[in-house]
Amino acid sequence: MYILGGTSATLLSNNLSRLLNQPLLKTTFKRFPDDEFYLRIEEPIDGEDVLIVQTAYPDPKIVELLIMQDAVCEAGAKKISVILPYFGYSRQDKKFEEGEAISARAMAEHISIHADEVITVDPHKEHILDFFTTPTRSCSAVPALADYLKKKNIDLVLAPDKGARDRGEEAAKLIGCASDYLEKTRIDGTTVKIHPKNLDVHGKTVAIVDDIISTGGTMANSIKELRHQGAKKVYVACTHGLFAGQAREKLKESGVDEIIATDTIESEFSKVSVASCLASMLVSLA
Ligand code: R5P
Repeated sequence: MYILGGTSATLLSNNLSRLLNQPLLKTTFKRFPDDEFYLRIEEPIDGEDVLIVQTAYPDPKIVELLIMQDAVCEAGAKKISVILPYFGYSRQDKKFEEGEAISARAMAEHISIHADEVITVDPHKEHILDFFTTPTRSCSAVPALADYLKKKNIDLVLAPDKGARDRGEEAAKLIGCASDYLEKTRIDGTTVKIHPKNLDVHGKTVAIVDDIISTGGTMANSIKELRHQGAKKVYVACTHGLFAGQAREKLKESGVDEIIATDTIESEFSKVSVASCLASMLVSLA
């Protein structure tokens, strides 16, 4: 099997190549003067299995992924597996208002065209996996995040809203501490309100665990509320760190002690790798 690591998953594809003991496919990537993407596969892959690793975020990375899939198919690969560490557009998973696009479905259907299987990590909602027209599975980054948080003497894990409660409970169980959740109301894409809730956080070390940090509004407001209630230390951990717009500044200003994300989207906060959970899944499927 060859691993084709896309430009949005360099770290992860190198780690997967090492863990699975499979070579990285030699390729040339470049951008034309008008910024269109160019790809050339530099070695024969006719009849070989190919694992493409590419995060579908931001938009240009989706175009790169579709071009990689087409090139691998054209070059005669036997089986094409796509690892989609972060599935961009997954939050637009239904019509919230009449006339809206179901963007997650549009992406999934196109990615399915040249994929014999798709594997993703912590999908925003389980039902979005059904949008793919090829077998699709997911693995969880929570054990890897919990492993990292274990070293921080966490007293309490909080989910930022009721919908994320299961993830928080799972992390707390693995860390060996209590869990609870906050009450959140989303006003619009960039504004959220965290309602004061009587939590016993005074003098405690708290970790807030979520699937995504996007604008950082959810986490920043949660941190402020916990600080207000006397928390000693506040860690924030997520699987997918998008850090859109002023997210970094917002989080720093809110008084966070540490920001932790995985390498599904590579950034300075990618302190936890999902490579092992993906590698185990691939080995168990083989
Ligand atoms: C929402 O359902 C997600 O789980 C995250 O809480 C949300 O995407 C975070 O967004 P932001 O960082 O923009 O508040």
